[in-house]
Amino acid sequence: MNNLTYENLNGFPASPTEVKKRREHVKAIIISHPRYTSIYNKLEEIHFYSKGSIHADSLFLYGNTGVGKTTILEEYRNNFERYIKDGYTIVPVLYNKVPVGATPKSVASSLLRSLGDPAYDKGTENSQTARLLHFIKACQVEMIIIDEFQHLIDRETKHVLNKASDWIKSFCDNAGIPIILCGMPESSKIFDHNDQLDRRFSEKIEMDGFNYITKENQIEFRAFLKNMDEKLPFNMNSNLANKKLADKLFYASKGNPYYVNKIILEATTIAAKSGGDFIDENHLYDAFTMIKISKRPYITNPFGKENFNILNAFEREERKEFYN
Ligand SMILES: Nc1ncnc2c1ncn2[C@@H]1O[C@H](COP(=O)(O)OP(=O)(O)OP(=O)(O)O)[C@@H](O)[C@H]1O
Ligand SMILES: [Mg+2]
Repeated sequence: MNNLTYENLNGFPASPTEVKKRREHVKAIIISHPRYTSIYNKLEEIHFYSKGSIHADSLFLYGNTGVGKTTILEEYRNNFERYIKDGYTIVPVLYNKVPVGATPKSVASSLLRSLGDPAYDKGTENSQTARLLHFIKACQVEMIIIDEFQHLIDRETKHVLNKASDWIKSFCDNAGIPIILCGMPESSKIFDHNDQLDRRFSEKIEMDGFNYITKENQIEFRAFLKNMDEKLPFNMNSNLANKKLADKLFYASKGNPYYVNKIILEATTIAAKSGGDFIDENHLYDAFTMIKISKRPYITNPFGKENFNILNAFEREERKEFYN
């Protein structure tokens, strides 16, 4: 039995509202896999050690798109809810994204906006910065998370936006609370251009997707699938962690949680629409056809193949890439 809130469909197609409900359910699934937990614990540690400390710790978290950086950071923020005290909204953890083409003013504005300042856009860069530092104290912010750090690199010229980087550096100094910066691997370039920022963020952690090389890697990926399966909006298990299916899901996703979730989301939709009470391989086959991965033009659909061999499949894909 999986999820008692979902009734068996018994072959009767789910209504559009029911399909939507199940899709939203899948989108919200978060699995605390070992790398997730270790980064989450790190955030807790930094948060705890910095309270009342004369010098707050900071961290730079980086990793490729879809590995789950924002998922952890938002979950951390959500576990520290805002509340009202003496007329002020207390914001224990502030989460913010660097706006595209960042300038000191746009970064300050977006932080003010995340804090809930209705006049977030008003004032000069200096007055906004002063207001922000004032609100951080008044709202008793204990930790700030700044995501999409790569937006400090100009998309076209690929140059680091120095003014905004310098602003962040001084802001970190003046805020006096732990700051977590997070972005794509290329955002490391910002530190090469800004020694002072680099020194303040000397602790840098990379977040990776799943691997499938060692036995332990495979067990970890299959445990992720098993957890996912248990949380799916169906009453019956789909056996996603079965070795053969796990091989196929790994091949299809290269261990990137985004693609695993996307395939399962579309398969859930197809299963519910056709009255299924679990995901079967036909649903996965159809779900896979809906997904295009630009970086893998020679990927083939692994689902429904009786004699699928993961090593051969990767090899064939690489060979095609090499000769084309
Ligand atoms: N721990 C997890 N459990 C379940 N699903 C996850 C988990 N982590 C990531 N995902 C899935 O992967 C998707 C992408 O994750 P997320 O947005 O956190 O990646 P990201 O590293 O922030 O990527 P980007 O650099 O593009 O912002 C999520 O929407 C979710 O579907
Ligand atoms: Mg993200």
